[in-house]
Amino acid sequence: MSNYHIKNLEEYFQVYRKSVREPENFWQEVAEEHFVWRKKWDKVLKWDFTKPEIKWFENAKLNITENCIDRHLLTKAEKTAIIWEPNDPKEKPLHITYNELHKKINNVANVLKDKGIKKGDRVCIYLPMIPELAYAVLACARIGAIHSVVFAGFSFSALAARTLDADCKMLITADGSFRGNKTIDLKGIVDKALEDCPDVETVLVAKRTGAEINMKEGRDQWLEPLMEKASDECKPEVMDSEDPLFILYTSGSTGKPKGMVHTTAGYMVYSAYTFKNIFNYQNDDVYWCTADIGWITGHSYILYGPLLNGATTVMFEGVPSYPDFGRFWEIVEKHKVNQFYTAPTAIRALAKKNLEFVDKYDLSSLKVLGSVGEPINEEAWHWYDNNIGKSKSPIVDTWWQTETGGIMISSIPFVTPTKPTFATLPFPGIQLVLMDEEGIEIKGNQVDGRLCIKFPWPSMARTIWRNHDRYRDTYFSTFKNKYFTGDGALRDEVGYYRITGRVDDVIIVSGHNLGTAPIEDAINEHPAVAESAVVGFPNEVKGNALYGFVILKETGEKRDRDNLRKEINQTIADKIGPIAKPDKIQFVEGLPKTRSGKIMRRILRKIASGDTSDLGDTSTLLNPEVVEEIIKNR
Ligand code: WTA
Repeated sequence: MSNYHIKNLEEYFQVYRKSVREPENFWQEVAEEHFVWRKKWDKVLKWDFTKPEIKWFENAKLNITENCIDRHLLTKAEKTAIIWEPNDPKEKPLHITYNELHKKINNVANVLKDKGIKKGDRVCIYLPMIPELAYAVLACARIGAIHSVVFAGFSFSALAARTLDADCKMLITADGSFRGNKTIDLKGIVDKALEDCPDVETVLVAKRTGAEINMKEGRDQWLEPLMEKASDECKPEVMDSEDPLFILYTSGSTGKPKGMVHTTAGYMVYSAYTFKNIFNYQNDDVYWCTADIGWITGHSYILYGPLLNGATTVMFEGVPSYPDFGRFWEIVEKHKVNQFYTAPTAIRALAKKNLEFVDKYDLSSLKVLGSVGEPINEEAWHWYDNNIGKSKSPIVDTWWQTETGGIMISSIPFVTPTKPTFATLPFPGIQLVLMDEEGIEIKGNQVDGRLCIKFPWPSMARTIWRNHDRYRDTYFSTFKNKYFTGDGALRDEVGYYRITGRVDDVIIVSGHNLGTAPIEDAINEHPAVAESAVVGFPNEVKGNALYGFVILKETGEKRDRDNLRKEINQTIADKIGPIAKPDKIQFVEGLPKTRSGKIMRRILRKIASGDTSDLGDTSTLLNPEVVEEIIKNR
């Protein structure tokens, strides 16, 4: 089992060195030892970043579901593959074994085939976090159809745009969805979206809420009766290593969303290998990632990565605040969760609440905690470490992107010493470089720059769906022969990386480069502050000035706002320097966020600049109502 499970720091450095010196041998060993192939590759890697063209495991043949499910049936048929935890804790969870999962995905695969779906066809999946979502994704992979999962919180126009762009023939949805105490009319949204998508021939509808819905004759059919009639045997389609596995949309800084295309073999090898190491997954562990399968985190680290390792993975339908703010911890106790992976935004929201919500539950099963999606600020890091991990569970702060397919920078638990707000070291195979604005590599330590990757890794997106030019322009044209992440990072004295945020969020004030993340970090250290966002706005003298939007903790006591402003400014001055003090601090009830929890800085920048005439599309926000409130109190 060479290289697959890294056990100490020395071994990490050894493995890392090998992955750089002999990348082909390195990945070949991982691929050979841990997966089943119908045919082995002719060549491990072929690449050219100028085109760009990237091929891993060329001419190999495989099916990823055979690796996720079939091969475990010999030894783990009765092991739970998925624990499904419903929105309402009064409803019973489901324990789906590998054997059952095998049958279900074959049922769905046969239904798809029966409806005329073939290898290479695109299937749009717009489902809440119910087992049918996992079945649908894996059923597509079983028959070689390309899945395009659209997060079920997206609006009808966002759904229509994605369905059209990928030219989907089929859409799989549900009658409705439960989220906290809300019921959402999913099918109604689909009907509206499909008015603009004439090429969708079939809509399969899973039953979840039992709501009365409209079924369009000739197009819409209930999924369950079809599954019941279908055979539970379906031969896996033999795929080429570079056949597309899925498309997943991510928003660009401009223009329409980008359909990132991930292919089969490289994605499989990388998602499996990272999962095993970064979560230190052991045979009987129960692993839980709170993301939605509508995002890359859910693709790689709820479904593929865990199942490829024969793991038990929890799939949670609900939200952290329902029926109360103890819900996450109740689930950890109930299912004895060993690895818990969530986003800083959730941590901050929960940290705002009373500790009673945490202390009621037995969290002693936890061994590893993960963070993903945005920089984790120091205060949230410590809250997570102290109150959830009880200072005994290492935190893996995992940096990566939809485009990278898997985790790129992270500590390895029990191997890499952690450091708050630092994602730490690159994963084996990942060759990071920092670049300056002139395109010169910044060498040495204690430096910061634009984060790039100079060598291919197996799970990188190969293109943007039907827009290879945009793929090249976005990722490979800023710096010659390098993949540009769009993020800034600093490398400390020992070579640890800290992500400072999107480069487009860097603000230059009086000629000084200021990252928004460290300023927010400083603001958040003030004991009265729950969360904050800093953006730049034009200033005649300084070029840019800073505007801070600040959410206060709900303590019930009244504080003098002017005094608070002074104290916050002092904290910033202390932490970073007086230059980083915002010209304006506005206390707000909430910050506009995308459905994946990212702050929409574009909107805040507009508000800060005083130009609210055209805020763009706010309909896909998680909380569009806060925008009005912020403008009103500006
Ligand atoms: C940010 C999510 C700091 C980063 C997997 C990246 C992070 C973008 C971290 C990708 C982290 C993600 N620390 N920043 N641990 N993880 N990011 O495509 O700016 O939804 O470029 O993928 O999130 O977001 P995406």
